[in-house]
Amino acid sequence: MSTYRSDYRHSIAHPEAFWAAQAWRLPWITAPRRILAYDDQGHARWYVDGELNLCHAALDHHIEQGRGDQDALLWDSPVSGGKQRFSYAQLRDRVARFAGALRDLGVEKGDRVIIYLPMVPEAPIAMLACARLGAVHSVVFGGFAPRELAARIDDAEPRVVIAASCGIEVDRVLPYQPIVQAALEQSAHRPEACVIWQREPCRAELGVGDHDWAALEAAAAPAECVPVKATDPLYVLHTSGTTGKPKGVVRDTGGYGVALHYSMEAIYDMAPGEVFFSASDVGWVVGHSYIVYGPLLRGCTTLVYEGKPVRTPDAGAFWRLIAEYRVKAFFAAPTAFRALKKEDPEGAHRHEHDISSLKALFLAGERLDPPTFHWLQGMLDVPVVDHWWQTETGWPIAANPLGLEPMPAKAGSATVPVPGFDVHVLDRQGQEAPPLEQGSVMIAQPLPPGCLTGIWRDPERFQAAYMRARPGYYLTGDAGYLDHDGYLFVMGRSDDVINVAGHRLSTGEMEEVVGGHPAVAECTVIGIHDALKGQVPVGLVIPKDGFDGDEVTLERELVERVREAIGPVACLKQVLVVERLPKTRSGKILRKLLRDIADGAAFGVPSTIDDPASLVDVQEAMAARALGHADQARQQ
Ligand code: COA
Ligand code: AMP
Repeated sequence: MSTYRSDYRHSIAHPEAFWAAQAWRLPWITAPRRILAYDDQGHARWYVDGELNLCHAALDHHIEQGRGDQDALLWDSPVSGGKQRFSYAQLRDRVARFAGALRDLGVEKGDRVIIYLPMVPEAPIAMLACARLGAVHSVVFGGFAPRELAARIDDAEPRVVIAASCGIEVDRVLPYQPIVQAALEQSAHRPEACVIWQREPCRAELGVGDHDWAALEAAAAPAECVPVKATDPLYVLHTSGTTGKPKGVVRDTGGYGVALHYSMEAIYDMAPGEVFFSASDVGWVVGHSYIVYGPLLRGCTTLVYEGKPVRTPDAGAFWRLIAEYRVKAFFAAPTAFRALKKEDPEGAHRHEHDISSLKALFLAGERLDPPTFHWLQGMLDVPVVDHWWQTETGWPIAANPLGLEPMPAKAGSATVPVPGFDVHVLDRQGQEAPPLEQGSVMIAQPLPPGCLTGIWRDPERFQAAYMRARPGYYLTGDAGYLDHDGYLFVMGRSDDVINVAGHRLSTGEMEEVVGGHPAVAECTVIGIHDALKGQVPVGLVIPKDGFDGDEVTLERELVERVREAIGPVACLKQVLVVERLPKTRSGKILRKLLRDIADGAAFGVPSTIDDPASLVDVQEAMAARALGHADQARQQ
């Protein structure tokens, strides 16, 4: 019988044998014989001579196995009043027909397609249709502004852009077409066509090059699955790095499929026919892996939810969904539960619903803070599992492997490294840190199947961002420690990436936007603690000499500028005007020190500081705004 320890040891000592044994789970067109190879940079490539189609593995295969009538996708949208249910056969038919429509627009294997859709069934349908054709999808989160969409259009160079006429944020209808139009005006690349999914609250007026999704789909013949190599890209997903330019994480096909299938069993303990609910968004990696591909590859039913944890219509939304659809495993970000706790501190709403189907709750996207962990554990009779992963890895690096061997949970820990991930904590000298000592979390190569195979069209950035810090290791960018039992505690990023309400954002990118304002001489953006969203960004700016404008107006303009450039999801709501910023003698802004001041953490005057008086300046500005303390007040 498999146990966690035997599986883990085997996966690290004999990765090739371990992953060869998992490969048969997928219905290959050509079964792989070369399980692990290395490219010329020394990066792992899995199943290099295998051929398959992931849409076939996710849909057609289950129908061939006689489960065509089983529910594949359930859609629940309190914000639009919509509900829909698709069996595997129905979903395959919609996907095949829409793939036919894309093919009619000229989309072929290897072409890129941008998908800019809210949480409607058409989002997974569009993704799977691309996979069916061997086209590479690039999904863009709906909360991003035109500039972000334009950056992704220019990077991916799509043949087609797929969008909806609008999204719905609780009770606000957000027209998407103006965003798409503005993005296309800003981008250098010109897609050949735009396909619009029309939604009732706000239909879009179609222009030249625009196509109505429903009309295209109705006129199209279903497309068959196109075989692709296991190493061919399935998708590119852009994520925030330390600079302004997002990184296009490239995911392969075969390795990803095998890894997701393994995780559905080993981590989530899911069997075919059971219902999986991930309350994320298709714009994020969690949506790709555990709303779309993971549950469907395993033959489960996936629940697609368009709404928030609260205000849709109340704080009982999650419990209602679990009860109504008999959800077995539920996955959400800790911030969603902090929002829920604020509205319903006693968890009273859960008593209004029969949630006995729920067997486990999974949390990721940011660290599960101990107070939220204890609140959930005290309220629910099921395991509460914090698990840690990244867009880059595509599936969890550390988790409580419920399907292999459930382990006792420890508050603040993502439990143990998942089989396949050789996790190390290294100190500043690159030596193995002793237990309980914090260091940089790294993964020894080879990375297991499913992890990124590169940065889209930027091999140098891939090397520089992840592979050079310590040869032979992948740099996660997270800091953390292992305890004496081998439990991993991930404490936060060691770079300029922040996590705001489970959304990954780059302070470097915000700095570029703020610094672009004509009145700003110098600026920095830091992430400070927030009781609800985990972190929120705060800007500190030094105006140019001779600036005689109104500081309040400048601050408002900067907040608006970031919202317009990055999108509402950036959540930069506070900017402070200061005279000086604390720097080292070599001119580097002391960001950590600024974060510590804002978070009220104890600090001294660092010996490296150039001008200690600058500290006083910043402290006064923060105190005047009660920065960080407003957050504490809200909590009390
Ligand atoms: N399309 C358009 N706008 C969006 C959006 C989308 N898909 N998602 C968020 N926004 C907007 C919001 O409307 C809000 O706009 P506003 O400033 O005009 O009010 C802004 O972006 C900030 O959104 P958010 O930070 O999400 O705050 P919120 O109050 O709307 O919701 C939570 C708070 C905690 C409920 C929500 O962030 C959440 O559920 N987060 C979980 C994220 C997640 O699942 N991450 C994946 C990892 S598991
Ligand atoms: P993303 O790429 O958007 O999934 O964000 C990945 C980052 O979120 C990680 O590098 C971590 O900083 C953080 N993160 C995600 N899950 C966890 C977790 N369970 N514990 C701690 N940090 C997490």
